[in-house]
Amino acid sequence: MAGDTSAKSVAEKLTPNYIKFLFGGLAGMSATLFVQPLDLLKNRMQMSGEGGKAKEHKTSFHALRAIWKTEGFRGMYTGLSAGLFRQATYTTARLGIYQSLFEHFRREDGRPPKFLTNLLLGIVSGGLGSFMGTPAEVALVRMTLDGRLPMQERRNYTNVFNALIRIAKEEGVLKLWRGAMPTAGRAMIVNAAQMPTYSQAKEILLATKYFEQGLPLHSTASMISALVTTAVSLPIDIVKTRYQNMKTINGVPEYRSILDVFTRILRSEGIASFWKGFTPYFSRLGPHTILTFIFIEQMNKHYRKHVLKSNVYTSTL
Ligand SMILES: *[C@@H]1O[C@H](CO)[C@@H](O)[C@H](O)[C@H]1NC(C)=O
Repeated sequence: MAGDTSAKSVAEKLTPNYIKFLFGGLAGMSATLFVQPLDLLKNRMQMSGEGGKAKEHKTSFHALRAIWKTEGFRGMYTGLSAGLFRQATYTTARLGIYQSLFEHFRREDGRPPKFLTNLLLGIVSGGLGSFMGTPAEVALVRMTLDGRLPMQERRNYTNVFNALIRIAKEEGVLKLWRGAMPTAGRAMIVNAAQMPTYSQAKEILLATKYFEQGLPLHSTASMISALVTTAVSLPIDIVKTRYQNMKTINGVPEYRSILDVFTRILRSEGIASFWKGFTPYFSRLGPHTILTFIFIEQMNKHYRKHVLKSNVYTSTL
């Protein structure tokens, strides 16, 4: 039928928006399933040998075996419910919104939106997504830090829903959005780096003719995106950490403002110090970014092939 090639039937073969939200959330949650034990492992390795004590774990493999033996499979997934719920809210919203806007702002010739447009899409979707995800983040922080409090001060949340309900009941619903502004600010910067870099990297790689749509392209582009995102957000993380941990000496706070922290680091420690701790920071952000992009592309590919019966792979981000 001639109608098959009409603009309308081509439009019908686009991945629907609700699928974009669904795949975004599922991809983020699947990535968390892989990354959660790595995160725990990183924390344990950093605590090992604290204060000059003999190191509990010589290698990551040794640490992994010890955790497995003493705490079992469940021990490796402490705080998992909150981590998953954070993805189900934050990543579902940010990737769903981003992919929907991406399609809307696609250029006439079918190419992805221009870099600056894409940057704005990243900022908007990151900010809105973060607003949806803040309650889960508050629960996640409290649950993972609970074990370090003295027994009688512990909150003993049993899972993320128990935590959310108790926070709302005991402290009021608004407390679920505590720290929403700085969290949103950080999310906007992370997404402004992550999203446009990924789609721009794919466009450039495709233009070299060494790549076509598929796993090698998606893994290379997501790796580039993860590196750029780490490089862009690490200085902000360092400034934020210094500001939040500042001391007051003789009644005078160490720093006057965020900008003051920034200029003082620049003057006394040099520009390179903004990227201190690149490797541990990347090892948290990197694998999650890479896996999320790979999963979302794979889900979309199979959806297009088996549900939409389309032979053309149109990426949604
Ligand atoms: C949590 O459990 C500990 C030990 O069982 C207890 O001392 C503490 O009061 C509990 N916290 C709450 C908020 O119930």
